Amino acid sequence: MCGIVGYIGNRVAIPVLLDGLHRLEYRGYDSAGMALIENGDIVIKKTKGKVSELQRMVKNLRSDARLGIAHTRWATHGEPSSRNAHPHTDSRGDLAIVHNGIIENYNALKTYLIDKGHSFKSETDTEVLVHLIEEHYNGSLLETLSQCLVEVQGTYGIALVSKKEPDRIFAARRGSPLLIGKGKGEYFVASDVSAILRYTNEIIYLEDGEIAELSKEDLSVKSASYEDVPKKVQQISWNLDMIEKDGHAHFMLKEIHEQTTSLQNAIRGRLNFEEGTARLDGLLKFMDELENAHRIIITACGTSWHAALIGEYLIEELAGIPVEVEYASEFRYRSPIINKNDIVFLISQSGETADTLGALRETKRKGGIVLGVCNVVGSTIARESDGGVYIHAGPEIGVASTKAFTSQVLVLSMIAIMLGRMKNLSLDRGRQIVRALAEVPQLVQKVLAGADTIVAIAEELYRSNNALYLGRGYNFPVALEGALKLKEISYVHAEGYPAAEMKHGPIALIDENMFTVVIATKDAIYDKILSNVAEIRARKGRILSVVNRGDKRIKELSDVVIEVPETLTFFSPIINVVPLQLLAYHVAVKRGCNVDQPRNLAKSVTVE
Ligand code: F6R
Repeated sequence: MCGIVGYIGNRVAIPVLLDGLHRLEYRGYDSAGMALIENGDIVIKKTKGKVSELQRMVKNLRSDARLGIAHTRWATHGEPSSRNAHPHTDSRGDLAIVHNGIIENYNALKTYLIDKGHSFKSETDTEVLVHLIEEHYNGSLLETLSQCLVEVQGTYGIALVSKKEPDRIFAARRGSPLLIGKGKGEYFVASDVSAILRYTNEIIYLEDGEIAELSKEDLSVKSASYEDVPKKVQQISWNLDMIEKDGHAHFMLKEIHEQTTSLQNAIRGRLNFEEGTARLDGLLKFMDELENAHRIIITACGTSWHAALIGEYLIEELAGIPVEVEYASEFRYRSPIINKNDIVFLISQSGETADTLGALRETKRKGGIVLGVCNVVGSTIARESDGGVYIHAGPEIGVASTKAFTSQVLVLSMIAIMLGRMKNLSLDRGRQIVRALAEVPQLVQKVLAGADTIVAIAEELYRSNNALYLGRGYNFPVALEGALKLKEISYVHAEGYPAAEMKHGPIALIDENMFTVVIATKDAIYDKILSNVAEIRARKGRILSVVNRGDKRIKELSDVVIEVPETLTFFSPIINVVPLQLLAYHVAVKRGCNVDQPRNLAKSVTVE
């Protein structure tokens, strides 16, 4: 998705802006640009393609500008081109704007502005904003911006500079993340903290409807009704090392290998071995509601939705509370029934996913309690939820989610244990489960220690154009997740199925060219999955199985096996998904794909 970074202070702006844009690259984009205020004038540079292209364009600029805004664009309205790249300017070239989000009424605004004599240079929705500001300018940009935004329908994160007030940056947000970084005699504006983390970890989050005016020394923030809003500066704990590759070929590989640590961080201080339960401070306020919940709804998108499915199994089995899992994109638009004793959990790594945020707001409109399971501290979903749990996975830069997924499942496991102990789960069983959960990071470490063996296994798969992923019970969502990982980064078509569903259709696909990945670790339905594997073998399908160490029966039926350590069935997804992440990674590398920035994908999907 689009990215914004802006700077005002004593540093030369170009390197700050380029560094910020490079750090936003992981979000996915197709063009880049910047606007600088140079001796009271606006200088614009923009291009289709990569930030490195923009870097080449500005190389010989010898700019001394200390103020500028920059953008990476992910095309929505108008093809990727330098004409459509941001910043966009008004008719006179007095204003330059960068924008994330979508202006829904841009057609109506454009017609109105054309009638007023404005001519447009791009096909974007964004350009109407800058012409609207030009049209209504009343001598104060802050006031004009505030008035114009009333006319705008849709979502935006905006940064604006102007020749009229050349020592200021203006910023506004509604439905698209935007934050301000505070330094000494300098301010930054960004859509994502990683863009400015190199310079500051003092962050001010803008809320929806707020607009801000930044000078070198001052920040003033107004509400939608143009009243002053006092803002708090928050220290964030992420640092620069956490957003760098640290010797790994890709962020995704680094993040896969970080999982022992990220899982330990999710557990730290939260397990109570004595009581056989978990303590999750962000839920303490809602213990009564949780205990008396008649139903839990979990809503999320993509990988987070897969984690939610495992959460359903966990909560129903350990706590006996009925759970429904729903895609956030469907939930928000289908008038969901939320009863008095329902609790809605939202799962989102980024905390900014538009559909999940929509589901959150729909739940709140209906008076429901919303609890978030998020990674990014201070993200919109984290802030707008009534309570919740951070997964503490650290920054995830690779577009394909890996460590966030395992930490989400781990946090859901702790939620299920905690609820279980509040209901019928016995002390003995609780203690046993908690002890097993505490061992999970070390078991993941064992899988990672054998990571190299997966390079050779990827050799088997990378020429295939199709793959089936099968799993049952807790490992059915792992099959979905394994298939999603493969398709999103290697562009190999892959489908996940509950293994028993195979005979209801997909079995027609099995022949000697079809590659099937089966998650077949030991659990109560191991024998059933054994039969499914035999059915594939009988049809000469190629089989890769994920099995527990020492398993002979599945091994005999499979072409290749990946062995993983045994744990309680509840926690097997956290372990079993790791080799599938590695498999997808190595297949993608062998196919020459851009692993960290797969085509058409964005890290946080902030548009519908
Ligand atoms: C896939 C992936 C996506 C996200 C989805 C939701 O690897 O990362 O499917 O899981 O876009 O994102 P969050 O969790 O940020 O709400």
